[in-house]
Amino acid sequence: MVASLDLNPFDLAVLADPFAHHAALRDAGPVVFLPSIDCFAMARHAEVQAALTDFEIYVSGRGVGLADFSCEEPWRPPSLLLETDPPVHDRTRGLMNRVASLASLRKVMPEWQAKADALVAGLVGHGSFDAVPALAEAFPLSVFPDLIGLREDGREHLIPYGTVAFNAFGPRNALLAEAMDRAQAATAWVAESCQRENLRPGGWGAQVYAAADRGECSPAEAERLVRSFLTAGVDTTVNGIGTAIHAFAQFPAEWHLLRADPSLLKRAVEETLRWGGTVQTFFRTTSRDVDVAGQRIPEGSKVLLFLAAANRDPRRWSDPDSFDITRQASGHVGFGFGIHQCLGQMVARMEAEAVIGAMIPRVAEIRETALAQRRLNNTLHAIGTLPVEFVPA
Ligand code: HEM
Repeated sequence: MVASLDLNPFDLAVLADPFAHHAALRDAGPVVFLPSIDCFAMARHAEVQAALTDFEIYVSGRGVGLADFSCEEPWRPPSLLLETDPPVHDRTRGLMNRVASLASLRKVMPEWQAKADALVAGLVGHGSFDAVPALAEAFPLSVFPDLIGLREDGREHLIPYGTVAFNAFGPRNALLAEAMDRAQAATAWVAESCQRENLRPGGWGAQVYAAADRGECSPAEAERLVRSFLTAGVDTTVNGIGTAIHAFAQFPAEWHLLRADPSLLKRAVEETLRWGGTVQTFFRTTSRDVDVAGQRIPEGSKVLLFLAAANRDPRRWSDPDSFDITRQASGHVGFGFGIHQCLGQMVARMEAEAVIGAMIPRVAEIRETALAQRRLNNTLHAIGTLPVEFVPA
């Protein structure tokens, strides 16, 4: 018998402090049933990783949110990556991997570093500021749209659009309704921006259309694939960078350690991804009956995978709640795992490394001048405001 737990993961109080509930989820068993949303759930690292790996049983094509696309209308045409299974996913992912290449990122890295250096230099020693708009949003918005080749006007729409998309993986609650209301203009802007004529030559967007010209996908598929960059590429990194600054402010000894040994930068970024829980959860749907640790999940069940809980599972990590930049954090599922593992993970890492790397020589101390406020979201553990002061080195 699968254990049942009286917890609604989309309750506002739970979304505000999800980590407080993860131990109960993990301890209830390798798989638990949540009557509040009529779904199964997994929160231990071993089971979450195994489910992410087994893409034939735990499918994505029926939606990676609460809605089952086999019987419910998706809020927009499904993603050809995130919400698609092989064989289509093999083709679209192969094409997108060639576009989002490490080689093309290496070319832009010096420019990204110069932009991060200038942004951080302008914030040091100026008293208290909100690090969310001033840094966590400002930096991705200063580099990512150019990488894709987006038009100049309206780039600020990317954040409310991402907010809707990540809320839409949860129930049709007030958070989603509010985000949709706010993002009407953003949705129209994103749809237009994905069209070929609105993408600059040379950018990743234009390269997706070049793949269509080679017959690797249709022009209509190209438009939807460009949309994937816009949906997944901004709100995620904004919160990833915000979380990293928040983490170092809360654990000043780790900041001092990183300043003393900047070679720990890559490891530190990986630890922020493990510890921070930017993407809290994603769903899968079972394509047939499956037994997990002797417990049956029937075909057609929605299964909620708690990535953030897996990343702090004491069965996998020692002292998991502590932010420790010397830790070997690889193996975390902050970017997912298996065939759907984050397409933009190198972008996310490079952005975070540029910002934190710019702070190392310039910021002696990160002081939180008021309590950080969360921006509640059905999927992201998002930071709304982060008032800090950068004490000059
Ligand atoms: C800190 C930043 C980021 C985090 C934490 C993150 C997290 C994730 C996670 C957990 C998944 C797996 C979804 C699943 O298994 O169902 C994923 C997939 C994906 N991510 Fe990211 N992401 C980040 C940044 C980005 C960026 C910058 C881009 C675009 C350049 C991006 C594009 C994608 C796409 C297209 C997928 C779907 C891949 C597929 O299904 O094959 N992400 N991401």
